[in-house]
Amino acid sequence: MKRIAVLPGDGIGPEVTEAAVKAIKKAAVKYNIDISLEYGKIGGIAIDETGSPFPETTEALCQRADAILLGAVGGEKWNDLPSEKRPESGLLSMRKKVGTFANLRPASIMPGMEGASPLAPRIIGDGFDILFVRELTGGIYFGEKGVSLSDDSHIAWDKMSYSEMEIKRIARMAFEEAFKRRKNLVSVDKANVLKSSRLWRQTVENMSKEYPSVKLRHMYVDNAAMQLVINPRQFDVILAPNMFGDILSDEAAAITGSIGLLASASLRADGKGIYEPIHGSAPDIAGKDIANPIAAILSAAMLLRHAFGEEKAASSIEAAVYKVLKEGKRTLDIARENEIPIGTMEMTKEIITRM
Ligand code: IPM
Ligand code: MN
Repeated sequence: MKRIAVLPGDGIGPEVTEAAVKAIKKAAVKYNIDISLEYGKIGGIAIDETGSPFPETTEALCQRADAILLGAVGGEKWNDLPSEKRPESGLLSMRKKVGTFANLRPASIMPGMEGASPLAPRIIGDGFDILFVRELTGGIYFGEKGVSLSDDSHIAWDKMSYSEMEIKRIARMAFEEAFKRRKNLVSVDKANVLKSSRLWRQTVENMSKEYPSVKLRHMYVDNAAMQLVINPRQFDVILAPNMFGDILSDEAAAITGSIGLLASASLRADGKGIYEPIHGSAPDIAGKDIANPIAAILSAAMLLRHAFGEEKAASSIEAAVYKVLKEGKRTLDIARENEIPIGTMEMTKEIITRM
């Protein structure tokens, strides 16, 4: 029996997670996968009910699960809390405690979605297919932080540091992924300014000797941000430190047409992982049945593939999503002026019936 911890979270999290759960249940029946689903609380809802954004009961649930399916966390209501009490810190604690140091974020133009990209057709060409490998449990997100308040001037700091061990394990993941794909790896850093980036670059460069067939390039993060919009087709796998990867993967999501389409897996070395849409909790559209469930549904596919090795079940979900998009079904975020959008539940139903 495979145990899935389901953490819907806040905002549109519960709606899109329910869509993902429906896809998993259908796949489980169709492909004979023995699963159990156990629900837990994280983020704002956990703060309201327990006082903590990542309560111990949720941590225990995550530790005993084989995979974690997450919605999204955060919202206006909790914005004034100190940073360590905010919903986001629940997500960061979970990543750190489960130890998922590698965040895989595929960003590609899906079939029939070329027109939804904000980039010009001459730049999009026949589409791009990028895999971000973002470091997730180190760097500036987890460095020493502090504030010093005095009468005439306040100071606040966040330290960015990386150990060679942290860089090596994420770099290995990126080389392995690149090896399985088009063997083209770009490592992002700011080595012209930052010491931690110098170590990053040197460590990645050293590892490239073990992967002679993978073509490695180093790119400064500012240039990478620019290259993504002027020539996204040059990229295959992009390796990035935590914060640079956070920023660039949102940019990449936007140029695919909608952040509502992209899934992610956060993995540790033994393959255990957290599966979640890369979009946030979007409180402004929560509860209105207009959120795009596709990113969450595709996260369910990633879960079945990476956590359980159920390739057929995963592909059946992905194929159903592509089919529905190809047929022109659109939620509000991806509908153009002449298209009539369908709701979260209807989109989910359309996908499930095609699995
Ligand atoms: C993401 C999110 C998180 C991050 C936030 C919610 C802490 O933006 O998963 O990309 O910055 O990692
Ligand atoms: Mn982000």
